[in-house]
Amino acid sequence: MTQILALFDELFKPQPILATLANLFPWLQVLPPMKKAQDKVFGRIDKVYEFVKERISDREENFDADVIRDFVDLYHAKRQDDTHNLCEKNLICMIMDLFGAGSETTSTSLTWHVLYMLHNPDVMTKCQGEIDTVVGRGRPVKLADKANLPYVEATIMEVLRLSNIALLTLPHALNNGGEFRGYKFPPRTLVVANLKSVHVQQDKWDQPDLFNPQRFLLDDGTVNRKLPLVAFGMGPRMCAGELLAKQELFLFFANLLQRFHFRPATSSQLPSLNGILGITNSPELFQVKLVAR
Ligand code: HEM
Repeated sequence: MTQILALFDELFKPQPILATLANLFPWLQVLPPMKKAQDKVFGRIDKVYEFVKERISDREENFDADVIRDFVDLYHAKRQDDTHNLCEKNLICMIMDLFGAGSETTSTSLTWHVLYMLHNPDVMTKCQGEIDTVVGRGRPVKLADKANLPYVEATIMEVLRLSNIALLTLPHALNNGGEFRGYKFPPRTLVVANLKSVHVQQDKWDQPDLFNPQRFLLDDGTVNRKLPLVAFGMGPRMCAGELLAKQELFLFFANLLQRFHFRPATSSQLPSLNGILGITNSPELFQVKLVAR
C-alpha cells in the first residue's frame, strides 16, 4: 500500500505544462520538447503499470476459486469462463484508474480543507460548534451525523468550489459532433470542460472570490444543492467516486475538527492559497499546528 501510494504521488506531482498541452493537443507531440515532456509522464505511468502487473501475478499464484477475496480474484475467476472480454491490460488499467482517481484526489482535497481553515478560523470555530452541539466530544462523528451537520457540509462544498483540485474534466468526445455558440464541431471532437470557470462565474455566485460556506445554506438552515457546484463533473461520465469522496471528506474533516484546532505553524504569513498544477491542483507544501481541543 505504501509503495503504490508513493508511486501515485509521483505520478500526480507537478508535471511540465508542455506535457499537459501535448496531452490535450496530441498533434503537438511531433515537436521534440513536447514529446520529451509527454514521455516523462508516460515513464511514471509505466512504473505504476508494472507494479500493478506484478501484484496481479502474485495474486494469481495463490488463487482459490472458492474464496473470492477482491476485484483481482474476481477477474481471475471470470478468466476461467469464455464469456468475458477482459484482458489483463483492462484489469491493470481499471485498477490504476481506481487507485489513481481515488487516493491522491481525496487526500489533496483534505489538505485544501486544512488550508482553508487556517485562512478562515471563524468558519472552523462555527463547524466545531455545530459538531459539539450535534455530536458532542464523547464519540467519533459518523456518517449518520452528516444530515444533522449542514454547516460542516456547506464548508466542504465551499472548499470544493474554491480549491478546484480538478480544474478541467477528463477528455470527452462529441460522438456525433455538434454546435455551440455558433462554432461547429465535427464528430469525435475532443472536448475538455473548464470546471473552475463554472465556480467563479460572476452571474452564478455572489462574490465568487469570497470563502463563504453560508452561500450553500438555505434560509431554513438546510443545504442548498441547486447551486452549480461541478467539482465532480457532470453527466454520465462524471466522477465515479463522488459519493465515496464526499463521505471520506466528511468523516476525516469532521473528526479532525472535533479533536483539533488547526493553527498556523508560525506567526508570520499564512501559507499561500495558490495551487500547483499537476494532474490535480494541489496546495503548496505548508506546515500546520494541530492543537488538541
Ligand atoms: C475530492 C475528490 C474527487 C474529486 C474532486 C474528483 C473529481 C473528478 C472529476 C472532475 C472527474 C472527471 C469527470 C469528467 O470528466 O466529466 C473524475 C473522474 C473520475 N473519478 Fe473522481 N474525484 C474525486 C475522487 C474520486 C474517488 C474517491 C474515486 C474512486 C475511488 C474517483 C473515481 C473516478 C473515476 C473512475 C473517474 C472516471 C469516470 C469516467 O471516466 O467515467 N474519484 N473525478
